[in-house]
Amino acid sequence: MISAKSILVTGCSTGIGYAVAHGLKARGWRVFATARKPADVERLIGEGLESLALDLNDSGSIRAAFTEVMIRTGGRLDALFNNGGYGQVGAVEDLPRAALREQFETNLFGWIELTNLVVPVMRRQGHGRIVMNSSVLGYAAFPYRGAYNAVKFALEGIADTLRMELAGTGIEVCLVEPGPIISRFRENCRAPFERHIDWRNSVHRGQYKDQLARLAKPGPAAPFTLPPEAVLAKAIHALESRRPRPRYQVTVPAVLFWRLKRFLSTRAMDWLSIRASGGGKR
Ligand SMILES: NC(=O)c1ccc[n+]([C@@H]2O[C@H](COP(=O)([O-])OP(=O)(O)OC[C@H]3O[C@@H](n4cnc5c(N)ncnc54)[C@H](OP(=O)(O)O)[C@@H]3O)[C@@H](O)[C@H]2O)c1
Repeated sequence: MISAKSILVTGCSTGIGYAVAHGLKARGWRVFATARKPADVERLIGEGLESLALDLNDSGSIRAAFTEVMIRTGGRLDALFNNGGYGQVGAVEDLPRAALREQFETNLFGWIELTNLVVPVMRRQGHGRIVMNSSVLGYAAFPYRGAYNAVKFALEGIADTLRMELAGTGIEVCLVEPGPIISRFRENCRAPFERHIDWRNSVHRGQYKDQLARLAKPGPAAPFTLPPEAVLAKAIHALESRRPRPRYQVTVPAVLFWRLKRFLSTRAMDWLSIRASGGGKR
């Protein structure tokens, strides 16, 4: 009997992780759908997924989830979809050190800690796929997104390095780079913004008021927004095709910015990004 391919997905409570977990299960994958809150783990189990607790801010939780997956699979794992995270909004001059540290703890350090547990397993098997859910903001800078830009640029760099270091091992490293996707991402930006940014006393408070209104607005806030299944489609190619691509842009803005960055000057990209951000209103 050929056993189903196995994958660990982080951040499955909502959004992209949720869609990827369910979408891959429907294709016959054995999906370990992780979430950080016990109530979400219970809900996902109730939906028929094999779910475990995994909080990317907690090394003990990462290790416990990984160990449990190893027990359940007999020490094998075909793929990892690094996904769980959030966006710290705020002008660079308003970012306290703690805001940057937390953004990197969740969106990068946790991902790499988990990846580094998985790589030896994949090396032993002689194959594996590691997919990193990056962003258009991993290669295009946007005003008021400094912390998030920094962590996604860092992710792109470390993923490129890892791909070269794993060349010839049978392990492929891919970046998925979505533009605007329907999820809880925007509303989940609000709590870290309120926690870390003293916005009422900032020179940027006018822009922040507009941004807060946008974060609270239900439905898509940007043109060309796609459902999370658009990311799932690229993840499927990265995970299942014989020759996965190192990068997959998702949505029209992600493709456009990728191409424009190839031939526009830095000043021209600045002009474009400032306009695309509505002069800081978005
Ligand atoms: N939506 C977009 O437009 C967009 C575009 C490009 C890239 N992305 C990337 O896509 C990924 C998923 O975001 P999303 O759009 O699906 O947003 P989302 O609906 O807010 O989902 C984020 C997921 O990450 C989880 N998470 C947050 N902190 C965590 C932690 N410490 N440990 C484990 N999980 C944690 C959340 O869990 P809780 O429910 O417990 O908070 C949730 O399951 C992120 O890496 C994001 O940067 C999103």
